[in-house]
Amino acid sequence: MTPALQTHAILSLCRLAPVMPVLVIDDLRHAEPLARALVAGGLPVLEVTLRTGCALDAIAAMARVPGARVGAGTVLTAHDAARVRAAGGTFAVSPGATHGLIAACSAQGLPLLPGAATASEAMVLLEAGYRVLKFFPAEAAGGQAMLRALRAPLPQADFVPTGGITEDSAADWLHLQNVVCVGGSWVAPAAMIRAGDWDGITARARKAAALARED
Ligand code: 3PG
Repeated sequence: MTPALQTHAILSLCRLAPVMPVLVIDDLRHAEPLARALVAGGLPVLEVTLRTGCALDAIAAMARVPGARVGAGTVLTAHDAARVRAAGGTFAVSPGATHGLIAACSAQGLPLLPGAATASEAMVLLEAGYRVLKFFPAEAAGGQAMLRALRAPLPQADFVPTGGITEDSAADWLHLQNVVCVGGSWVAPAAMIRAGDWDGITARARKAAALARED
């Protein structure tokens, strides 16, 4: 799968909802009800970080929830990409990008949302054929001013800012012309997951799903 086709698949996912929840799941029993809660709230595209021991099993369990499109975050290596594919993940998100990761995602047909935080990183990925990039870590790497500044020289790049975005700041990010959707953990914070507060998470998802985007 070429990077251009990967971008096409990622763009379709990004257009399903304005917010992609970033999920840290450390108890497999939380996976299915969490996915149901988020889908019920109007957020079907879910990023499960590979930072916990049960992340791959969680992806497999969540992928069975009707309507859910489940991918993996913190995908760093070719080995990670292979494990995500085997678990039934439908896309991969990385904080950056390497040649090895790009080659693995291309070989396995796993759409990649690669990360960039500078003009040079974005240029390398554009040259490789990726047009939708994760802007990470969004607030720390320059915030909205940085993305506004990148738009002039790189109008062909669209971004998914992630890292430090909150319920309060998400709307402003979504108004930037080069933002297709935003990622963040605020929709399903660890404490609410641990408490099994699925109704509370659905309520947060509903608010996030109602955020408007610049079209
Ligand atoms: C992450 O890797 O955890 C994401 O960037 C989410 O960041 P956030 O917790 O600041 O939303």
